[in-house]
Amino acid sequence: MEILQQQISKSPIGIFDSGVGGLTVVKEMLRQLPGEDIIYLGDTARYPYGPRSAEIVRRFALQNARFLMGFGIKLLIVACNTASSVAMDVLKKWISVPIIGVIEPGAKAAVQETKNKKIGVIGTQGTIFSKSYNRAIEGIDNNIRVFGRACPLFVPLAEEGYIDGDVPERIAQHYLTGIVQNGIDTLVLGCTHYPLLKKTIQKVVGDNIHIIDSASSVIFDVKNFLARAKLLNNSKKGDMKIFVTDAPERFEMVGEKFLDGEKIDAVKVELDF
Ligand code: DGL
Repeated sequence: MEILQQQISKSPIGIFDSGVGGLTVVKEMLRQLPGEDIIYLGDTARYPYGPRSAEIVRRFALQNARFLMGFGIKLLIVACNTASSVAMDVLKKWISVPIIGVIEPGAKAAVQETKNKKIGVIGTQGTIFSKSYNRAIEGIDNNIRVFGRACPLFVPLAEEGYIDGDVPERIAQHYLTGIVQNGIDTLVLGCTHYPLLKKTIQKVVGDNIHIIDSASSVIFDVKNFLARAKLLNNSKKGDMKIFVTDAPERFEMVGEKFLDGEKIDAVKVELDF
C-alpha cells in the first residue's frame, strides 16, 4: 500500500479552467504546494463559460477532464467556478480520480468567517444563477443568508489589466452597492478572475467586509486532502505544463499578469472527444 501511495504521490495534479483565470489557483498551488507537478488546461477556444448554459458547460468540463486523465493525474481540480457550479455531478460520475471544485472550499471558508450570518457571493451569471454557493453555504448552516450578484464585466477588466483606478471602481460600485446594503460581513469572490480585482473590491465594499478568495481556499483543501491520503509530493520544485485549446499567444500574455509576471509557455491542443 505504501509503495503504491509513494508512486501515486509523484503523479501530477490536473487543473482546468475555461481559460486563463484558473491561474489564480495555480498561483496559490505554487505558493502552498510547490513540490507538486501541474498539468493545466485552459479551454480558451470555448471561453467564456460564464454566460453559457449548464448543459454545454458540463459537456466541456467532461472533455477537459478526460484530456487531463491522459496524463495519469492523481487529483483533478476544477478551477473554474462556473464549471464547479454545474458540472461536479457529471465529472464525479465519469472521472475515476478524486475531484475538488472551488465552490465547497470557498463556501466553507465563508461560513467560518461570517459573524452576522449574512454572506455575499459574486461570480459569473452561470455561477450565480446555479445557486451553487447558496446550496453549499446553507448546507453547512441553514441560518445563513446568501446574497448573490453576477458581475460579468469583472472578467474582461481583469484580463485587460484594468484592476484599479476610476473605471473598475465605478463598475465595482455599480455591482456591489446593493449587495453591501444587505448588511453582509463576508464576500466570496466566486470567480477565477476576481482575485485580481481584490483591492478595488475591498475599497468599494469597505474594510469591515471580509473577502474570501476561493482560489486560496481550494488549495488549502487540496493540501489537507493530499496529506490525509498520504499523497503529497515533497519534491523540491514541481514541474508545470500548460495546454490551451486556442492560439497560445494571448493566453501567455494575459497569464503572466495572473502569475505576477512569471513567464508562461503554453501548448495548443485539439480536444476531439
Ligand atoms: N473561469 C470562469 C469562472 O470562474 C470565469 C471566466 C468565464 O466566464 O469563463 O467562473
